[in-house]
Amino acid sequence: MQPDSPHTAGRAPGRSQAGPHALGGSIGVPVERGADVTEITHPLMQHKLTYLRMAETTTDNFRRLVREIAAMLAYEVTRDLQTETITITTPVATCQAPVISGKKLCLVSILRAGNGMLDGMIDLLPGARVGHVGLYRDPDTLEPVEYYFKVPDDIHERLVIVVDPMLATGNSAIAALGRLKEAGVTSLKLVNLLASPEGIKAVREAHPDVSITVAAIDERLDEHGYIIPGLGDAGDRIFGTK
Ligand code: URA
Repeated sequence: MQPDSPHTAGRAPGRSQAGPHALGGSIGVPVERGADVTEITHPLMQHKLTYLRMAETTTDNFRRLVREIAAMLAYEVTRDLQTETITITTPVATCQAPVISGKKLCLVSILRAGNGMLDGMIDLLPGARVGHVGLYRDPDTLEPVEYYFKVPDDIHERLVIVVDPMLATGNSAIAALGRLKEAGVTSLKLVNLLASPEGIKAVREAHPDVSITVAAIDERLDEHGYIIPGLGDAGDRIFGTK
């Protein structure tokens, strides 16, 4: 059962035995925010994120919330798309009105959790193409290894928005962004639900040309690479695998 009020974030579920974590701040790694790192502070976003974080949120509610949050992130990440003016006729007048122009879009999901964000993004961007990148971590080298890569042929001509719910160490995002650059992509944005200060720093260092849009920047990573306070394993919560 969910508490009535979302207004006290309280202690996030989970992995730390420490007291309540204050959201919106960080310990240790300074968090860069600015033109290239956008954290959404809108109350609706904060409200939905609070419910998303709760351990007792059911799979169906978790999915619905991810979809809604992803749609809001799509709204934010497309804020600077180019527009052009066309002439249209309304039922009562003719006028000039803006439509989106410039590069076409491609969403790229980092498997598997990124797929959970696609429906919400596509709700707002129905014409976007979709690519998928699959990476796993080599247990010996701890380096990301690609096991799947399928993107549109013309991806190099598109603005590519990479989606992954959790920007934790940043290793997967860094590898995926690098792979997309190898495929010829020159315009890239990264969108996450939650990020750690460590992940943001790592991505900014490896790919300073890539902007990051995130619903919230949390406090830190724990020793297992989980975001604290976070929401747990995003893939397991989206797909109900645990
Ligand atoms: N991946 C997740 O799903 N959750 C985390 O907290 C970190 C990485």
